[in-house]
Amino acid sequence: MITRKSKREIEMMREAGKVLAKCHREIAKLIKPGITTKEIDDFVEVFLEEHGATPEQKGYSDYPYATCASVNDEICHGFPRDEKLVKGDIVTIDMVVNLNGGLADSAWTYAVGEPDKKTEKLLEVTKTSLYKGIEQAMPGKRIGDIGHAIQQYAEAEGYSVVREFTGHGIGPTIHEDPQIPHFGLAGKGPRLKEGMVITIEPMINEGVWQSKMDDNNWTARTVDGERSAQFEHTLVISKEGPIILTDQDEL
Ligand code: MF3
Ligand code: CO
Repeated sequence: MITRKSKREIEMMREAGKVLAKCHREIAKLIKPGITTKEIDDFVEVFLEEHGATPEQKGYSDYPYATCASVNDEICHGFPRDEKLVKGDIVTIDMVVNLNGGLADSAWTYAVGEPDKKTEKLLEVTKTSLYKGIEQAMPGKRIGDIGHAIQQYAEAEGYSVVREFTGHGIGPTIHEDPQIPHFGLAGKGPRLKEGMVITIEPMINEGVWQSKMDDNNWTARTVDGERSAQFEHTLVISKEGPIILTDQDEL
């Protein structure tokens, strides 16, 4: 069932989104060669606590950490760990913040050290593909319009789009209807309506789109070992246009 949120629910999610955006801005400052994803995860736990919020992912379907930290060929749901990041790595930090019951979900890929041209382009195209999807998130449009816009753009730039993981409705739990694929056909799927709150979170690969699952039964990585990047926002469908709740530029 696809629900539409009340003004009050949206206000609560907006507050959660601000904390999340702020947290990403702090993470951006921390990421450098030598830091571990476990240290970032610990930082997030403390940051959220200081802001009266909790990490919604921790314990969700028994997921063990506050964040997902996916390095290089890891597509999503990477486990934070004690290995040091090195110059040239990319790492996606994904988290869901719960502030007084309001949820927000946002992932961001960071370059470790100065990125080379190839890395810069992967991150640029992945972020732009998120915004191409967001542009379509208007009342009256259909879910397929979002995926279509993302796929058209990313494939034209020479990348592939992960199929197995999608965006989703969000609130009061992390994953609500509808699923939002990042590929597909324009004009297909359920219609978007005012008050729906969704995530768009394209995972874009340098090589093929297929993934395989690690032994931990969580972490998905590319079958060909090429890298994958991801940017995710939580947004509200509204007549005035999409309202991004996890925008880091609006703080
Ligand atoms: N934030 C993830 C998403 O975008 C949710 C990960 S599931 C969890 O859908 F179990 F790791 F929390
Ligand atoms: Co999500």
